Order: sequence, then C-alpha cells, then structure tokens
Amino acid sequence: MKGLILCGGKGTRLYPITYTIPKQLIPIGNKPLIVYTLELLIDSGIDEIGILVNEDNKLVFERGLSKYFDKDFKYIIQYNPRGIAHGLTFCEEFINGERFVVVLGDNSFRFNLKDFVHEFKNSKLNSKILLKEVDNPERYGVAYIGNNKIINLKEKPKIAFSNWAITGLYAFDNTIFKACKEIKASKRGEYEITDAIKWMLDNGYNVGYQILEGKWRDVGRAEDVIEENIDVLSSIDEYIKGEIVSSNVSGKIILEEGAAIYNSTVRGPIVVGENSIIKNSYIGPYTSIGRGVNIDRSNIENYIILDYCNILGVGGPIDNSIIGEGSIIAMEKGIKKINRLIVGKGSKIYLPSK
Ligand code: G1P
Repeated sequence: MKGLILCGGKGTRLYPITYTIPKQLIPIGNKPLIVYTLELLIDSGIDEIGILVNEDNKLVFERGLSKYFDKDFKYIIQYNPRGIAHGLTFCEEFINGERFVVVLGDNSFRFNLKDFVHEFKNSKLNSKILLKEVDNPERYGVAYIGNNKIINLKEKPKIAFSNWAITGLYAFDNTIFKACKEIKASKRGEYEITDAIKWMLDNGYNVGYQILEGKWRDVGRAEDVIEENIDVLSSIDEYIKGEIVSSNVSGKIILEEGAAIYNSTVRGPIVVGENSIIKNSYIGPYTSIGRGVNIDRSNIENYIILDYCNILGVGGPIDNSIIGEGSIIAMEKGIKKINRLIVGKGSKIYLPSK
C-alpha cells in the first residue's frame, strides 16, 4: 500500500514562523513534525511514500528529512496550491491505481494505523475516513452519521450537524481522483477534500468510517504547535551527550552533543539541541531548544526555540512562545526604561494589559 503526505499549503496561520520553514518541518521536541507521521506510516507497513510539496519547498524538505531516514521518498510538486483535493490530482501517476492512505502533513496522529490500513485493504470500500468527536466541529470537515453509515459531509459548516470532525487521515482507491476533478472550488477558493468524498457518497460509492481511538491534533496554529510540543516532550527517552556543570536538573532531559548547562536550574522534560549553551538560567518544563542557541540569565518555560537564537537576560515571565530561527531576545542596559522591538513582517508580540 502507498502513502501520501500532503504539504502543499502555505501555512499562513503560522506566519511569521512559516516564512522561513514549512509548518510540517517545524521542530517538535527538536524533530520535524512530519517525521512523526513518516515514522507512523513506515511502522504500519506503508513502504512507498509520496510527499506533496509546493514549488519552493522541495529542496527544504529533502534537506530537512535526509538525516532521519535512509529511504527515499517521492516528492511531488503541487503548482499553484488550491486546496487538498487540488493537491491530490498531482499524485495520480504516483499512486498508479493502487489503494492508498493520505495524511495531511500538519496533522499528528497516535493510534493503530496498521489495523486501519489492514481493514481498508481487505474491504470493498472506496474510501474510509477517520472521525473524532470534538467540541468545535466548525473548524473542520464534519460528518453526519446515522445507522452506522455516513449520511452527509460538510467542510467547516457555520452550524455543524454533529460533533464528528473528519481528521486529516484518509484511505482511498482510484475513485478519489475522479471525484477531485468533478468538484467545484469552495467559497474559500479551495478544492475541498470533504467535497470530493461527498461527491463519492452522492454518486453511490462506498465511503466508510472509523472512530479514532487515540490522539489527533491539527497543528495549524501557534497554540497547537505548543500543545503538540508538550505531548511529545511528555514521553521522551532521556539521554545526555553534552555536559552539565554546577546545575540542578530534574525531570527528563535530552542534551545533545556539544550542548552544555552551567549554573542553572532545569526542570524537564526539555530537549536541548547540539552546541546550545544555557548559563545562569531557569528552564522550565516543555521547552524545546534547537541547535546553537545561547541562553543566559533568563527564565523560560513552555518554549520552542529554533536554531541559533540568543535569549539574554529575559527574566520576566515569557511563556508559551515560539521563537523563530536566529532571533534575539535580550535585556538591554540603557538609561531609558523602554522596550525596543525590531520585528519583521507577520511577527506577533502579545504584551500583558496593565
Ligand atoms: C483540512 C480539511 C478538513 C479537516 C482538517 C483536519 O482543513 O479541509 O476537512 O477536518 O484539515 O485537520 P484545513 O486545516 O485545511 O483548514
């Protein structure tokens, strides 16, 4: 069975981070988000995997993934991305008539995919979707079920007819390609996967479902990235390759080669990437620190800090934050008591109200 991971979109909801890194490559526990999905597919016995990317991203993905896998993936380019169903039309040749699994690259799953795949493979279904009950169905595609059958599907309804969200993992046969070509663009200008599956339903094809027993998250917004980081760090296996000197460390910690912690208090779970130096600081739980980061005289918790950042003298409570590559956050010694910001397009700074 083949697998596809769709990463063609622009990730606008995660600007400015996604100006420089596709959202599927954002490090979660210092490993790109998509790596977890690739591992899930490979562990479930899916041997041939295609990754749908946009024109600008192919090299970035190739480079970003090369150190994690010794197998090759087929990169397929989605030109002028206009939604998931639009993206799938570029994959028909790669799929070549087989049954296959599709995962949205910005979704994360922890469940038994092997059984899902096995059941679909041995069924007469043309498609199978994975549903999860949610409190905010309007954010997703929604399914209406009656008598254990899917009766209706709608993408982001204003008022949802159920709480069954359609998660971003699907199984299909070749019919989906016909469906993707038949549908019209939605109001948001996209060719919606939900509309394509609804087309299959309306045209007499067999669409089944499974209720997800396990975890799923649509990692589309900054708060989802932070939550995902918490989940991943909750179950890390500790190892220490760097050095810890005159510090008080508790909880699980991953300290990569060349990284060092001096004169600090650290409460895991945290991950510290290669050659990052932490001095005279407090680092609280659920913090992922990339490579070559310098932290001195600071107090942070619940952070994702990308490579080569400098965090200096940040004593105040800055929590739940994502700091993009090469950023500097520093306390300045000056006469004037002012804050100074040099921020780029799409930056987000949230200050407490007085
Ligand atoms: C997409 C799909 C939607 C699905 C969701 C899952 O939405 O269109 O049907 O429920 O992924 O994450 P998007 O994240 O593109 O808005």
